[in-house]
Amino acid sequence: MKKPVIYVCRKLPESLLEPYADRFTFRMWNREDSPVPRDVFLSESKQADGLITMLTEKLDAAFFEINPQLNIIANLAVGYDNIDIRAAKDCNVTVTNTPDVLSETTADLTFALLMATARRIVEASEVIKQDEWKVWSPFFLAGNDIHHRTIGIVGMGRIGETVAKRARGFDMQVLYHNRTRKPEAEKQIPATYVELDDLLRQSDFVVSLIPATQETKGMFNKAAFEKMKRDAIFINASRGAVVNEADLVEALQSGVIKACGLDVFENEPIGSDHPLVALKNVVCLPHIGSASWQTRKDMIQLCLDNLDGYFYGNGAKTPVE
Ligand code: DGY
Repeated sequence: MKKPVIYVCRKLPESLLEPYADRFTFRMWNREDSPVPRDVFLSESKQADGLITMLTEKLDAAFFEINPQLNIIANLAVGYDNIDIRAAKDCNVTVTNTPDVLSETTADLTFALLMATARRIVEASEVIKQDEWKVWSPFFLAGNDIHHRTIGIVGMGRIGETVAKRARGFDMQVLYHNRTRKPEAEKQIPATYVELDDLLRQSDFVVSLIPATQETKGMFNKAAFEKMKRDAIFINASRGAVVNEADLVEALQSGVIKACGLDVFENEPIGSDHPLVALKNVVCLPHIGSASWQTRKDMIQLCLDNLDGYFYGNGAKTPVE
């Protein structure tokens, strides 16, 4: 069999690809820090049997129509809203993602973001850098408690459950809302299933870990923020598309909610001129949920395992169903 050609959309470590050199012909974009230009991507894809894509590559129905030779897309992310999954299926293309290997790391970041927002860590650090720390005073940079408060997790997938475990370490009460109930998690964590409106009303921290789909688009909007407690903190570590950002800015400015921590945005990357960045009660991060050295290597390895399983084994390991 001729070695399948795999186009890799970002420069990845040769040391990870090297063990597969006798099985695949890799072609690769030459930069780690910038996406492959669309025209290069389109012409490389045409010659490829498989791709390793990032969330920066948009694969729509038209893309699949012009690439009938493609067999598999290994997406370097657990989320796959950059890919039209139905179109891929119609064209008989397998899509894989990277679940599990990033759950702990993403949960770490989500909880760090929650803590940084509640205890105003970024703002406090800035106070020193700007020479604004003049004296100790009782309510100087006072934030919200985390321990013994209620966390409401919207989207109780693997990352959600892992965040919930961290929350239990802080003696938090865990509420969750999910398409399907998780009886095991309810017992083990323990966590309580509630309707979305109840979660919004009862939680001190509302944490979005829900994927971006047609149904979830803009679900955190004016109406949702108004249901939250006035001192609630909103955290989003899933996808920016689930939030109506204009409504969020309004809610933060008018005191409808107290603060928010965001790792994801509607249109990434954002710059310092983004309206959310200007607000003191917001912590913004540049989509680094799974960004640890080990986890990013594990994600790349899983993409390679998926390709290997597809072409030489019993099928892809983690296909998107
Ligand atoms: C994911 O895995 O979906 C992250 O957002 C990117 O690593």
